[in-house]
Amino acid sequence: MTDPGERLRSSLAADQSSGPSYGLADFDSPIAMEALRATRVLHAADQEPFPAPGRIRVITIANQKGGVGKTTSTVNLGVALALYGLRTLVIDLDPQGNCSTALGVEHTVGTPSVYDALVGDSTLAEVVHPTTASPLLRCVPATIDLAGAEIELVSVVAREHRLRRAIEAHISALPPDERPHYVLIDCPPSLGLLTLNALVAGDEVLIPIQCEYYALEGLGQLLSNIDLVRAHLNPGIAVRTILLTMYDGRTKLADQVADEVRNHFGELVLQAVIPRNVRVSEAPGYGQSVLTYDPGSRGSTSYVEAARELAQRGVSMRPLDRPSAGVSAAPVATLSVSDPVMSDVATADAATTRESQ
Ligand SMILES: Nc1ncnc2c1ncn2[C@@H]1O[C@H](COP(=O)(O)OP(=O)(O)O)[C@@H](O)[C@H]1O
Ligand SMILES: [Mg+2]
Repeated sequence: MTDPGERLRSSLAADQSSGPSYGLADFDSPIAMEALRATRVLHAADQEPFPAPGRIRVITIANQKGGVGKTTSTVNLGVALALYGLRTLVIDLDPQGNCSTALGVEHTVGTPSVYDALVGDSTLAEVVHPTTASPLLRCVPATIDLAGAEIELVSVVAREHRLRRAIEAHISALPPDERPHYVLIDCPPSLGLLTLNALVAGDEVLIPIQCEYYALEGLGQLLSNIDLVRAHLNPGIAVRTILLTMYDGRTKLADQVADEVRNHFGELVLQAVIPRNVRVSEAPGYGQSVLTYDPGSRGSTSYVEAARELAQRGVSMRPLDRPSAGVSAAPVATLSVSDPVMSDVATADAATTRESQ
């Protein structure tokens, strides 16, 4: 099957030149038609695919507060990256399985899921599912079984490293041209063993912050947990991206929160801000991202912009020459201190090995 993103771009390029013009009727699947509308509405003049990152980026989307937009951001950034040409793997690590729902991926009890890879012996390849949003987007769903994993994992050897090892083994088993450019991990709203696994698995953290009262409450705890993980389990992990979500331009408060976050986190904060938009909250009910549900909505355009910025920041990331990075030699690299974005936060100079080695 041809990648719809690619077909969209070539179609639009053809539209812009004097070549044959394609209409909606040329697109044989509803998803492709929707995606065509999306890209036409969003960026008719700018249909370049997003640039590939300099290394595989494993991004943990974390914030122990519930309802701040972790799942929504994971889903919509994932779909945007895939529609714009980047192979993306979304891993749902929340027992509620909201991410799986929003991507239209089955996650009833018994469905092969991330639980089988974390607690059982399954490989990620055995539990990964395709999505309808894009052939470039794949999803490892979470079932309610995962709720027991926090307890079941306690007695498992190297319990904090289960997800990292699964991801590394998965990537190294794939031929280079099938490896994901992006792996996005959606965390549950807690700081338990599941989130810990995600922080050990990731090379960077993306924190969605809701532009509301108490937005920064609890953030200190998350940041100190990340520091602890960096000190003891995953020297390469660092916060690289802050995404402001649910921004309501009508309120002064939203601006105050946004200013405060920008003052505190500086250039880690993406310029793109996700507005509060009812279409964003409706989309999961239809098993869709907002990009496919209502491509022209402000929620959709803002997620495309956020994904574009994320992708652009990834271009300068260099693979770390770290042959024994985990159980395999998979090119899942850690931070490079030369990256302009994070030089102050990254501690990559200390990150030549992991404690688990
Ligand atoms: N930009 C937005 N505009 C409107 N509703 C949103 C937006 N982002 C998220 N939501 C809604 O807010 C709720 C919480 O979002 P969610 O992504 O599930 O948060 P988390 O994963 O952090 O718990 C969901 O019902 C979601 O649909
Ligand atoms: Mg969630």
